[in-house]
Amino acid sequence: MKKTSVLDLLRQSAEHFLSGEDMASQLGVSRSAVWNQIHDLQKLGYRIEARTHAGYRLLGVPDKLFADEMAWELGTRVLGRRIFSYEDIESTNDAVFRLGEQRAPEGVTVFAEHQNKGRGRLGRRWHCPRGKGILFSYLLRPSLSPSQIPQVTLVTALSVVRAIRAECGLECGIKWPNDIVYEERKLCGILTEMSAEQDRVNFVVVGIGLNVNGIPAQVPDGPASLKGILKREISRVTLAKTLLRHIDRDYLAWKAQDGVDFVEEWERASVTTGRRVTARTNERVIQGQATGIDRDGALWIRTDSGLQERILAGDVDHVR
Ligand code: BTN
Repeated sequence: MKKTSVLDLLRQSAEHFLSGEDMASQLGVSRSAVWNQIHDLQKLGYRIEARTHAGYRLLGVPDKLFADEMAWELGTRVLGRRIFSYEDIESTNDAVFRLGEQRAPEGVTVFAEHQNKGRGRLGRRWHCPRGKGILFSYLLRPSLSPSQIPQVTLVTALSVVRAIRAECGLECGIKWPNDIVYEERKLCGILTEMSAEQDRVNFVVVGIGLNVNGIPAQVPDGPASLKGILKREISRVTLAKTLLRHIDRDYLAWKAQDGVDFVEEWERASVTTGRRVTARTNERVIQGQATGIDRDGALWIRTDSGLQERILAGDVDHVR
C-alpha cells in the first residue's frame, strides 16, 4: 500500500489548517521533514497557505498530470492501477510497450507533459506543445485475437467522446477509425499498437493525444483544441481523470459483453457513416459512400459501382 504523505493529509483536511506537529506525529517523521515536503510541494506548484499558530492548508493544486494527482480518488478498476508521469519522454506508447515486454500488469498508465518523438498512425509524427495537451498510454492484456483489436480503438474513441461531453459539454464525433473531431477538425488521435502472435494477442498499448489548452493555427480543417472551441482554459487534471474513468468503465463493459452492444453507440457517434469517403488500406484505395460500422469495428463502403466493401484497418478522408 502507498505510504500516506503530507499531500494526502492536506487533501483530507480540506479547508482546515493542519499543524506541522500533527502531521509529523501522524506520519511518524520529524517536523523538519514535514516542512521539507511542504516546500517541495510548493516548488511543484501546489498552493499551500502557512499560518502561524494554525499550520498549513491546501489552497490549490497545479494543473500538471502528476502521477499522484491522477491517482487521487480515481476509483478505476483496471486503468491507472499504476501510474507514471514524465515531464519529457520520447513517446508514452514506446514507454508502455517496454513495460508490456517487462510483464507489467494490465492498466499501467504513462502520462507526459511533452513528447520528443510522439507518434501518430501510419508513421506520422504527433506534436503537442508542452503542458497543453493530455498525452498518455496504457497497457491492456485482453485475451483476444489480433482481428478484434480495432474494436479496442473504437471503444476507446467512444469513451473519449463521452468524457469530453461529461466534462466540457461538447458533442464530438468519431471519424473512423481513431480520430475524435469537432466540426471536421481533429481534437484527439488514438494510436493502438500490439504485441501479438499469429492468433493471440500478448498485450495492447493504447495511446491518446488530446489537444486541450493549446491554440492550433486556425487553418481550415486543421487540428482544433478544446480551449480554441470553448474559449476557456480546461483543467487537464480533471479531464484526464474523467477520461480514465470512462475508458475503464467502457473497456470492462465491452469485454464482458463481447462488443455487441457497442455497435449502436459507434454508429451514433460516427461522423463517417453517411459520408462520401476515400479509404486507403495497405492494398488499395476505395471510393464511395460509408454505410456503417459493424460489430468487429469494420467500416462498410458502397462503391460507385454498387459493391459493398468492408475494411477493418486503414485511413479515411471525408470527401466534400
Ligand atoms: C493519430 O491520430 O495518428 C494517433 C495519435 C496518437 C498520439 C498519442 S500521444 C500519446 C501517445 N504516444 C504517442 O507517441 N502517440 C500517442
